[in-house]
Amino acid sequence: MLPPSTTVPQAIQLARWLKNPAQVLEESQARFGDIFTLRMSYVPNFVVVSDPELVKEVFSAGPDELHAGKANVVLKPFLGEYSLLMLDGAEHLRQRKLLLPPFHGERLATYGETMINSALATIAKWPTARSFTMHEEFQEITLDIIIRTVFGVNDETRADEMARSMREMLNLAANPFLLIPKFQIDLGPLSPWGRFTRKLKKADALLYSELQRRREKPDPSKQDILSLLLRARDDDGSAMSDKELRDELVTLLVAGHETTATALAWTFRWLLANRSLYRELGDEVRASTENGKLIADRIGRLPLLDAVIRESLRLQPVVPMVGRIVQKPVKLAGYDLPVGTAIGPSIYLIQRRLGLYQDPSRFHPRRFIDHKWSPHEWFPFGGGIRRCIGMAFALYEMKMIIAAVLARTSLVIDETAPPTMIRRSITLAPKGGVRVRQQERPMQGGS
Ligand code: HEM
Repeated sequence: MLPPSTTVPQAIQLARWLKNPAQVLEESQARFGDIFTLRMSYVPNFVVVSDPELVKEVFSAGPDELHAGKANVVLKPFLGEYSLLMLDGAEHLRQRKLLLPPFHGERLATYGETMINSALATIAKWPTARSFTMHEEFQEITLDIIIRTVFGVNDETRADEMARSMREMLNLAANPFLLIPKFQIDLGPLSPWGRFTRKLKKADALLYSELQRRREKPDPSKQDILSLLLRARDDDGSAMSDKELRDELVTLLVAGHETTATALAWTFRWLLANRSLYRELGDEVRASTENGKLIADRIGRLPLLDAVIRESLRLQPVVPMVGRIVQKPVKLAGYDLPVGTAIGPSIYLIQRRLGLYQDPSRFHPRRFIDHKWSPHEWFPFGGGIRRCIGMAFALYEMKMIIAAVLARTSLVIDETAPPTMIRRSITLAPKGGVRVRQQERPMQGGS
């Protein structure tokens, strides 16, 4: 028998989940406790867990006991069969081994200046006389950063063309209904899936032509992630095929762009509502500059900045839950879970758990200065052998972008209502995108 669940019809449960997953999680936990089942049309029964000890058990399961790739299968038409998010078992470990080295913490310093410059270029275009939406601006910046640091495209015309094509494709992909296999049918160029697949084809063509260009003219001095992947070799000496590289590039784009932009928007949502903290963080950033120049290495080590980002990802995780599919019958909290059941460690519920976090709905970054949280108490990037490979990259990138904003401008928030969430594909974003105004003209100084 599975853990308790509501008797609400499955189609209604699915519709509610697509509209507001956080509310579904909160209501179910209030009614059933730390383990319950979501029964929704088109997806396996989802056993949600919100007790850190149970999450620890799930994250320490072996690669043959629980599979994550099968839980991500709805993303396959977007990402392709070789995507790291799609693979399981030995295939996943092999591909992960090839992808991990470029994301290693030590490598990040190579990308710091590019990240800062991308942010500064966008900030310089921010309007002074009217309000604007931070979420969109962060999407611009994080897309530009991926194109430069992951795809390694620095030629301005090609970078612009790529950004335009990827943006069009990603905007259509944000529609959560496209995650339902039933809606993944091409009924012509005006149907949602038809429009999306045509944009995806265009984006793919650009990626394949970039791959061809880079294979024809290899440049051993290039340090971007694609260059490193082109040079990567398997244990048996084989290189990644064009299809594998395409799938991983789209995966890194989809997994790394919207998530980071959304996390940044949430961070400013909390920060701008807390003026004294906003000023204190600005002081920390400005004190680390050298003649007004932002130094990536110093920004990467600022304690309050780090705590602010971790607290924002705690209070408002971008992804509310991760998924694993049972491959061999398992026992969890006394329940026998059959093969095919999904288990969902809920990031959202655990990171707001009373008794674990004091005053959990308060934005209080110092809890990350005073205490180190375990990987099953704070896990906005998931966990175990599937933990986000872009975690260090994303945290570093967020630091560079936030520091650039704080050093160059002063913002006020244009919203007074308490923040609410909307779903964009698999992420939870701030409704309205965080509208702000610049308070004064940006300060002078280069990067
Ligand atoms: C704040 C930003 C980000 C958040 C909140 C985030 C969150 C996540 C989460 C929750 C997972 C699933 C982990 C699991 O199942 O246990 C994941 C996986 C992944 N993420 Fe991220 N991510 C972020 C940024 C990035 C970036 C910048 C990249 C790369 C450029 C990236 C690449 C990936 C990849 C490739 C996976 C699949 C890992 C695997 O299956 O082995 N992510 N991410």
